[in-house]
Amino acid sequence: MAFTYRSGALCAEQVPLEELARRFGTPCFVYSAGAIEGAYREFAAALQGRPALVCYSVKANSNLAVLALLARLGAGFDIVSGGELARVLAAGGDARKTLFSGVGKSAAEIELALEKGVACLNVESAAELERVDAIARRRGQRAPIALRVNPDIDPRTHPYISTGLRESKFGVAYAEAEALYARAAQMAGIEIVGIGCHIGSQLTHAAPFAEAAQRIAALADRLERSGIRLRHIDLGGGFGIRYRDETPQPIAAFLDGALGVLAGRRETLIVDPGRSIVGNAGVLLTRVEHVKPGAARNFIVVDAAVNDLLRPALYGAWHDVWPVRQAESGAAAGVYDIVGPVCESGDFLAKERTLAAREGDLLAILSTGAYAMAMSSNYNSRPRAAEVLVQGDKAHLVRSRESVEQLFALERIPG
Ligand code: LLP
Repeated sequence: MAFTYRSGALCAEQVPLEELARRFGTPCFVYSAGAIEGAYREFAAALQGRPALVCYSVKANSNLAVLALLARLGAGFDIVSGGELARVLAAGGDARKTLFSGVGKSAAEIELALEKGVACLNVESAAELERVDAIARRRGQRAPIALRVNPDIDPRTHPYISTGLRESKFGVAYAEAEALYARAAQMAGIEIVGIGCHIGSQLTHAAPFAEAAQRIAALADRLERSGIRLRHIDLGGGFGIRYRDETPQPIAAFLDGALGVLAGRRETLIVDPGRSIVGNAGVLLTRVEHVKPGAARNFIVVDAAVNDLLRPALYGAWHDVWPVRQAESGAAAGVYDIVGPVCESGDFLAKERTLAAREGDLLAILSTGAYAMAMSSNYNSRPRAAEVLVQGDKAHLVRSRESVEQLFALERIPG
């Protein structure tokens, strides 16, 4: 476990969070390198024995130190913007192990991807295929592509993060994929290298994932019969983690059905996990500003807010809240909503939690390694939190807390 109590003090690996709050201030994201490495190795082990590549989904947590750690372990990357490509390269990642997904890649982003030599552009529409072909021809190149196919499978997760249904904006309709592959095969600027899909995020049922694998493999077979040989099959990410009471299977068990479907196939299997690599490897460390009893509800006002962690407001997501110092607080336990200082009723990090807390105490908001800092904003002119990576008994500041001056450094008052 990355975050455990030692003599009543919550620690990241071997470092007490109290010490990190003193050194780096709050709010502050704290990541465990060991937990990230462990999660990556779980995928690598599950896929051992067949051609495979784990492409970490950069959008979940794009800190350079996290990317560098994964690059050193041999990970590839799944990116969705030119910005993410620049980050991967700056962190020492390999463009040739990088997949570029997303429904709206700009011409400049496609140029950049071709210039840097990414492994594959995941094309999501006929219009995008035309654009990639035109740019590649102008550059005298052939662009390696896969179609992201929408297998129309219900992933049984939150509707905001379901992406493989027919009504979703993502991907090419299953029924239209073959015809589009046939067109792609005629294009001078296109080299077909694979097929991709991604049915949704925070999946806790393996059956829809295996079903997607089945549909994609069937399509790959039909393509092969028409003379289109694929080098890889990308089944996307979406592996669920435990936030509250979910009981996700170990990765090997989750992948078992899909691996069965793909057994004996020569294509490289690609998966692009994000949350399951970093989600439970991070906490958001925050300090109690006030304990505020109310008429109908009681509040703990902390120094982290919705701008640091959007998930509760956006998805109604649950994050556990742990006291950093166990039991020592003199305050009696009560039931509180944990809220931030931002001027929005949606500014809550947790609701109805039983806690004992006093002004000045530290709290840890758990499972915030994924889609937390990455989705943060400067709303209310709040500088973004610092980020710290812990490795054993060492703590590295991997992103400084923003300064207020940085927030308006790009603004100009017209003369
Ligand atoms: N591959 C593709 C094509 C994706 O669209 C995504 C995530 C992933 C991989 C990684 O999925 P993961 O393994 O992390 O579930 N902000 C939301 C999650 C949005 C996910 C978007 N796509 C949240 O906080 O729950």
